[in-house]
Amino acid sequence: MKKVKFILRYFRYKLTAKGKHSAQAPFLYGFITKVINTKTEDENCNKIEALRKDLCNSEQTIQITDFGAGSSINNSQKRKIKDVARNSAKNAKFGQLLYRICKFYKPQNIIELGTSLGISSCYLAKANPNSKVFTFEGCTETAAIASGNFKKLDIENISIAIGDFNNTLTAKLEGIGKVDLAFIDGNHQETPTVSYFEEILKFANNDTIFIFDDIHWSCGMETAWNYIKSHQKTTLTIDLFFVGIVFMKSELSKEHFTIRF
Ligand SMILES: C[S@@+](CC[C@H](N)C(=O)[O-])C[C@H]1O[C@@H](n2cnc3c(N)ncnc32)[C@H](O)[C@@H]1O
Repeated sequence: MKKVKFILRYFRYKLTAKGKHSAQAPFLYGFITKVINTKTEDENCNKIEALRKDLCNSEQTIQITDFGAGSSINNSQKRKIKDVARNSAKNAKFGQLLYRICKFYKPQNIIELGTSLGISSCYLAKANPNSKVFTFEGCTETAAIASGNFKKLDIENISIAIGDFNNTLTAKLEGIGKVDLAFIDGNHQETPTVSYFEEILKFANNDTIFIFDDIHWSCGMETAWNYIKSHQKTTLTIDLFFVGIVFMKSELSKEHFTIRF
């Protein structure tokens, strides 16, 4: 039933999503034409995709401590790295979207909730080596593989906080002081998603960008997404179905767009 609802939501998106011509405001038009509707295939992206290929072929087994939606904490199980890589990581299209957003807006301090094997972290970090990526992961063995991956790609601007987001996020945010981009890709449930948003919001500024993964994954995630869209601090919100992008810029009018991607 859950799967059927998800497919119906996807059809609704396909029927309602608009292209660049729906954008009257220059900011949105620029975002669609220069960031959403372009392609990136540079050396950095090729290296990250080569890493993904290796991970997708890895028979190595790790002990997963699952903190995510639908699993009880400490529900430990053995899984092959190739299965984690195939099922958890954002694909190349979305990884490269993150990369373009970071290249275009140059956020300095980047937060990522949900490192997994580090594929999306690599995209966030490689876009701008002068930025700092603070990524968060609950599973110790997964985080260790991610750290190794950052070394393999000579990435030095990522640090991982290991532990439940509930225990690591606030302290880290207080240390960082300000957040310029936040990618929320872990624990896809309504209440945690809203609470991570509220917590990070305390450290946000006019230029902060939020990116939420899996906004249509469940009724709860849709409720969280609707809450974020209608929040008094958010202005421009963009639904790309698999991710939702949120701008806070007070100079923009409060508007929501469903855009083809
Ligand atoms: C979808 S994966 C992240 C994928 C990654 N962003 C990528 O695209 O390469 C989500 C990760 O979040 C972690 N996670 C989920 N809930 C968590 C929590 N409450 N605390 C810490 N980690 C959590 C899971 O262990 C999992 O590795």
